Amino acid sequence: MIEQLPVAELRRRFASDFVWGVATSAFQIEGAARADGKGPSIWDDFCRVPGAIADGGTGDVACDHYHRLESDLDLIADLGVTAYRFSICWPRVQPGGQGAYNERGIEFYERLVDGLLERNIRPYATLYHWDLPAELQRLNGGWLARDTAYRFAEYAEVISRRLGDRVVSIATHNEPWVSAVLGYERGVFAPGVKDRRVAYQASHHLLLSHGLAMQAIRAAGVRADVGIVLNMSPVRPATDSELDAHHARLEDGRLVRWYTDAVFKGQYPTDIVEHLGADAPVVQAGDAGLIAQPCDFVGINYYHPTVSSSSNPASPASSGAAVTDMGWEVAPRSLCDLLLRLKRDYQLPPIYITENGAAYRDQLVDGRIEDEQRRQYIESHLLAVAEAIEHGVDVRGYFVWSLMDNFEWAEGYRKRFGIVHVDYATLRRTLKRSGLWYRSLLKTATV
Ligand code: NOJ
Repeated sequence: MIEQLPVAELRRRFASDFVWGVATSAFQIEGAARADGKGPSIWDDFCRVPGAIADGGTGDVACDHYHRLESDLDLIADLGVTAYRFSICWPRVQPGGQGAYNERGIEFYERLVDGLLERNIRPYATLYHWDLPAELQRLNGGWLARDTAYRFAEYAEVISRRLGDRVVSIATHNEPWVSAVLGYERGVFAPGVKDRRVAYQASHHLLLSHGLAMQAIRAAGVRADVGIVLNMSPVRPATDSELDAHHARLEDGRLVRWYTDAVFKGQYPTDIVEHLGADAPVVQAGDAGLIAQPCDFVGINYYHPTVSSSSNPASPASSGAAVTDMGWEVAPRSLCDLLLRLKRDYQLPPIYITENGAAYRDQLVDGRIEDEQRRQYIESHLLAVAEAIEHGVDVRGYFVWSLMDNFEWAEGYRKRFGIVHVDYATLRRTLKRSGLWYRSLLKTATV
């Protein structure tokens, strides 16, 4: 077992204005699926496909955050965080994804943002964390349609006009790779399509919508920083063979470079375009420039590296490595390596680690959850971030995924990522050992 570092020692490795947060997303915690005029999302539909969700769970109730806003805000404040990252459910504020807006939905997010500010917590908003209005999927295939990008930019502008004076940060998308690849290529996430050509067209429209939304948000005159959140799972070859190296490079290209090159270099990586052949997306003149709008920040979600081999294209862990309950390899070192690599290969704006955390099988015993593995996971990854900062990487903040246990997409409620435990029968929240530790880290005096 790893010795626990004194929290003051860990804390001293970060600047006094480093942003400390916890993160969630709308579909995973809000529930209230039909309340106050909310329209259905593609995830509401997907949860009803037999077998799509491992435990048959839905987002109907989730953590019931929508109805428990005030007490959840108190819970967040009690942790001592300086920031909270949340997402806005598009069909809650615009039920059909076009046309009329739903005032009661917008008011919910105004209450959330105002409640954070009253508690001295900085709001970090994400506009799209996968819950597309179902109507847009039904009408024209969701992100397959170029028109969806324009619909998204309009929604982004409306939200910016309403919240842009109070949130400190607006991310357009969360993990567009997941939306495109898991949603449209592998079909394991909503909308459940399995077609590589469609997936890459969708990825292009997601990125285009990012660029269009960046322009629309800035046109709304917001004070907030504007950017995007990308998932990064650094890929390494399983062996020294040429073939494995080639596979790893392609996998890295599809996962990482497709997005970072498009947003920060204004072009798709040519090796991946060639590799896709006829499945490469149709791109119109001017799109590349639109996608590469200057960002104020980039959010990085990091959980684990990927091992790629020619025989088994993307296995999550090499044998013998410690893994979380998701089967994901615990490798803090590769977070530091990733950050150093990004610094070397790109001219990035300031970085936030917008998600990092782990699922473990927690046991509630006598009202306590002793999740030492999760605590260690967070501690070791924070040390990796500190090391990267010491090597000159401009990381400004860190958000634990997640504030509380929630709906883990295709896994349903079986995988728990929270530093707060949620009893789904009573919806009672209990701070886990990792949460107590995070709180003590955040409340440690740094002088
Ligand atoms: C990243 C996603 O943004 C989040 O929604 C998800 O719960 C975590 N990964 C864990 O899988």
